[in-house]
Amino acid sequence: MKPKVDKDACIACGLCPSICPECFDMQDDGKAGAIVDEVPEGCVDQAKEAEESCPVNAIEIEE
Ligand code: F3S
Repeated sequence: MKPKVDKDACIACGLCPSICPECFDMQDDGKAGAIVDEVPEGCVDQAKEAEESCPVNAIEIEE
C-alpha cells in the first residue's frame, strides 16, 4: 500500500503525522507528506485511520 497526500487539499491540521508518524510528517512546505513508499506492515491500521481522519480527505492509501 502506498500512502499519498494531496498537497493542494492539505490544510496542515497535523493529524496524520500524529496518528501515523511512520508514514507522514509535516514538511518544509508547511504541508503533510508521505515519508515512505510503502506503508510498513506494523502500521497499516494507523495509516488507514489517518486516511479516514483527515478533515479534507487529502490522504489516499493506494492498495
Ligand atoms: Fe493535512 Fe490531512 Fe494530514 S489536512 S496534515 S493531510 S490529516
